[in-house]
Amino acid sequence: MRGRRFIISVDSCKPGMRTAEAIVNKYGGVILFEDTSLDERAIEHLKNMGIQYIPVYEESMLTVSGVDKDWAITDEYNFNVKYEQDVHTIKKALSDISSGKRLNKEATDGIVHSMISRAQENRNMIDTVMQIRSIDEYTYYHCMNVSMLSMMIARWMDLGDTMVKKCTEAGLLHDVGKAMVPVEIINKPGKLTDSEFEEMKRHSEYGYLIVSENRSIDHDVALAVLTHHEKEDGSGYPLGLTGDKINQIAKIVAVSDIFDAMTANRVYKYKDTPFKVFELMQHQSFGVLDPTVLNVFLNNMTHYYVGSKVRLSTGETAEVVFMNRLDFSRPVVKVEESFIDLAVSKTVTIVEFL
Ligand SMILES: [Fe+2]
Ligand SMILES: [Fe+2]
Repeated sequence: MRGRRFIISVDSCKPGMRTAEAIVNKYGGVILFEDTSLDERAIEHLKNMGIQYIPVYEESMLTVSGVDKDWAITDEYNFNVKYEQDVHTIKKALSDISSGKRLNKEATDGIVHSMISRAQENRNMIDTVMQIRSIDEYTYYHCMNVSMLSMMIARWMDLGDTMVKKCTEAGLLHDVGKAMVPVEIINKPGKLTDSEFEEMKRHSEYGYLIVSENRSIDHDVALAVLTHHEKEDGSGYPLGLTGDKINQIAKIVAVSDIFDAMTANRVYKYKDTPFKVFELMQHQSFGVLDPTVLNVFLNNMTHYYVGSKVRLSTGETAEVVFMNRLDFSRPVVKVEESFIDLAVSKTVTIVEFL
């Protein structure tokens, strides 16, 4: 333990600073060990490896001449760096499970803890969920996003600390069973055959087995992992439960799960706005998602977009000033000094989110 750490950009690193944790590449290989004193070569090496930010000990920053702590990067960067580290931990946990090891409860706890401690940064979390995306690492990012979103919904619903923690944990672990599905099925680029799809669907049961085996995880969390693909009308899997039999954690995870999956697909397939995703959720989830949870989610999420800048189909730039709860893709916007209600002016649409 060598005191406080600061995350700084590699470009601002100076010889003499000491790393505050091991720096790893995206495959988990160690580039520099913890408490390594940086020299020009090491800094160059970090840059060549594409590392942008590293944690260094405050004490070592102060001993380097001409350095002041203003270099320490903002919370926003801290947030993104930590997010990437958490993603890395999930990746490792999933690969451990697929190679037959048990779920690492300490790793899960660490992520849940860091997520909850960042709860004040809702806006950052939402931005991150919307922006950070990578196809080949889809599951890891997806787990993190679903975890963050589930935590936020539990908070918005005022469910109390215990439920907030369970929802964060369930979100993180909901797809952990995918580690047991053959990798050819997980990574198959085209459409799955019926039998492959059946195997894919078993990830809920595999996940339940993995999570319930760990006795320190609450059974409600394991049940939520088992039932996160159940639907309100009983048409989901694996049990075909109706809404009254699905626990609240699973309902919260289901809303986050569908939102994240829709956002991911949208970002790749079309350049679309989050409003469109909100609207699709509102209109396509009848009989699928719990209406109370969905409403809390939509009302709170859309609130964050008031004040956003958008481009309209007329080419003009506008600011979102009021969300229309009946149709989230058509808010009231302000163009210079005039207001346009897109729910009334149907020929004008939002084409881009700026
Ligand atoms: Fe799933
Ligand atoms: Fe999922």
